[in-house]
Amino acid sequence: MDKFVIRGQRPLEGTIRIGGAKNAALPCMAACLLTEDPVTLENVPDVRDIQTTRKLLESMGVETDGGSGRARHKIRMQAARVTTPEAAYELVKTMRASTLVLGPLLARMGQAKVSLPGGCAIGARPIDLHLKGMEKLGAQLRQEHGYIYAEARRLRGAEYVFDRITVTGTEDVLMAAVLADGETVLENCAREPEVVDLAGLLTAMGARIEGAGTGTVRIQGVNRLHGAEHRIMPDRIEAGTYLMAGFITGGSLRLTGLEPGHLQALLDRLRECGAALEIGPDWLATMPGPRLRGVDITTAEHPGFATDLQAQFMALMTQADGASVITETIFENRFMHAQELNRMGASIKIEGNRAVVRGPAVLNGAAVQASDLRASASLVLAALAAEGETIIDRIYHIDRGYERIEEKLRSTGAAIRRIGNLIKTN
Ligand code: EPU
Repeated sequence: MDKFVIRGQRPLEGTIRIGGAKNAALPCMAACLLTEDPVTLENVPDVRDIQTTRKLLESMGVETDGGSGRARHKIRMQAARVTTPEAAYELVKTMRASTLVLGPLLARMGQAKVSLPGGCAIGARPIDLHLKGMEKLGAQLRQEHGYIYAEARRLRGAEYVFDRITVTGTEDVLMAAVLADGETVLENCAREPEVVDLAGLLTAMGARIEGAGTGTVRIQGVNRLHGAEHRIMPDRIEAGTYLMAGFITGGSLRLTGLEPGHLQALLDRLRECGAALEIGPDWLATMPGPRLRGVDITTAEHPGFATDLQAQFMALMTQADGASVITETIFENRFMHAQELNRMGASIKIEGNRAVVRGPAVLNGAAVQASDLRASASLVLAALAAEGETIIDRIYHIDRGYERIEEKLRSTGAAIRRIGNLIKTN
């Protein structure tokens, strides 16, 4: 298992280009199942979850091309024939987003067999709301041996209100509804930009969708969809992570190729902290400034403060003056990074879904373990600010969603290297 070895306290200087959004690319890849024509995606990040999704699609008979060498950010997929409309446990257990194939398979093939994901490091994360949505569209579901078996001769449009806001749930049911018979009205939908990105691809494929990015999405079902080309939106979470890396090291870091409007809640909180921030039409820049002040955040669905940036913000707050109360409302167990940050010298107390961070703390390098994707990113940030050397284990988590993070950071002056398990560190 690879590890990162990081020597901290070097201000990051230079430019990092932000890649395409993993969480937009995943549903867009699943959408290729909706048509027999080719779907080509550009700006697809070269990360593990994308490779896993590709394997999943190939296991169903989808032909894929690209995604390597110079064309590593472009993937062409063609589901001319779907031979096995099935997402096996072996893949779903490594990546829950595999369940995104349920809606497209049901809509196009009238049947699907999808493993139920188990629990996850950050919470229970059931998919009951996806399933209820499919039933509302007329699918018959049964659960056997850990799998959902779904069937429908043709889905029919319906009204469905999500009991709570779910990002992949909204995407999954949206993909089912585009080929359903008649009108579907989805209420209490996720308003995340990734949903809008998916709707953009579906519309380019011939779907009729109104209201994506609002709480109410209306879909007029069509009989068939055709191929399309689509450019994946920039990764707002990657951008937010590097932005905080700039501030935690007191560096002058410029991030390009992003959409600042997607990061409004983070930018507002950073300004409250006193962060010296420059904002351009498609770029952001950090400048060295006085020590940040601790501010409170509460995670929420978009446009609120993204839960996927909570761990990184917590690392940043260990270096701020005063207390910061961080409330996590989306996932019930998303504070695993706090104990690791404390091992590095932070002062963080957890009470239920609240973390109280008291800064500024002198962080010092230690051996720590990543527990999930964003927790790993917070440990990288802490390591960049710490005295001495930090070794982060289990970085396969980070490889799921950050493309070549060590190369991007190294190009701006960070002392970070990847080592295999058996290689000595010194
Ligand atoms: N929920 C249910 N039932 C459902 C679906 C969700 O109870 O059927 C609950 C979840 O347990 C959670 C809340 O609703 O408490 C919100 O979960 P949501 O469904 O929105 O999460 P998700 O769609 O599984 C996506 C991202 C996550 C991100 C969350 C929240 C993808 C592939 N994943 O997950 O990204 O944290 O939305 O914004 O889009 C990450 O990239 O590190 C990551 C975890």
